[in-house]
Amino acid sequence: MSLHPMSRRLMAPDITAMKRVKPIIALTSYHAHTAAIADKYCDFLLVGDSLGMVMHGFETTVPVTLDMMIMQGRAVVRGAKRALVAVDMPFGSYEESPSVAFRNAARVMKETDCGAVKLEGGRRMAETTRYLVDRGIPVMGHIGLTPQSINVIGGFKTQGRTRDQWAAIEEDARALADAGAFAIVLEALATPLAARITEQIAIPTIGIGASSACDGQILVMEDMLGLSPRVPKFVKKFGAVATAIEDAIRAYAEDVSERRFPALEHTYAMKDETEERPSPSPQVTKKPKKLGT
Ligand code: KIV
Repeated sequence: MSLHPMSRRLMAPDITAMKRVKPIIALTSYHAHTAAIADKYCDFLLVGDSLGMVMHGFETTVPVTLDMMIMQGRAVVRGAKRALVAVDMPFGSYEESPSVAFRNAARVMKETDCGAVKLEGGRRMAETTRYLVDRGIPVMGHIGLTPQSINVIGGFKTQGRTRDQWAAIEEDARALADAGAFAIVLEALATPLAARITEQIAIPTIGIGASSACDGQILVMEDMLGLSPRVPKFVKKFGAVATAIEDAIRAYAEDVSERRFPALEHTYAMKDETEERPSPSPQVTKKPKKLGT
């Protein structure tokens, strides 16, 4: 598996230059430890506003705030040394006007030290994209299913499954590419449409539920690890982390309950203590309580 050939951190133009050269590998990440692992394999990490659903248990991404994005963005930038880190602009932080978007995106860049931001929306975000790019903020677009618009769309619905929807979505992609976006996420898009868009535009398409026709792929890390309880059809589970966590927690609970943990090697003796440790307290002989009920 390829690690980054470059020793410096990747930047937005490096991602753009990967189109038709190599498949672009990306994952979401919200914390330093998983970022450090994913950094070895990914070209970019996205601090997605999906963190609202994955980490905080919200039903949608709508309640996510700029402060939440900045806090997790900082953690990911600290954990990842080579991958580009892009941070999602949350709902309400950029739609009002290009200048509001600039103020908030500049805050994200300054406070997290990330290398790019992501905005949802096609043609309606083209002016804002141009405004940010002209002022030094690399922008990744996001079209197809745009979860921040869930209340208008009426659900997490696949886009472009009928041909009459294609022209508008293709125009969205072209408008963002013309406005200077360095890549575009295509979410939950019918395969032939994702292939057409990928052919038509000069910047990479990053698919999530948009087929292998895209120039790169991204998944929500907790989904592909097998940690999320429910995942969309387009997710392949590459791990069974929820099961591994439950097995470990069950074993811990049993060990604590039966006083097998902590054992001698997990404890601190006095510095001058030479004799044997005292035998366990009489409680140890008590029958352990039944677990999980
Ligand atoms: O927030 C997120 O995780 C995303 C991905 C779906 C691309 O935007």
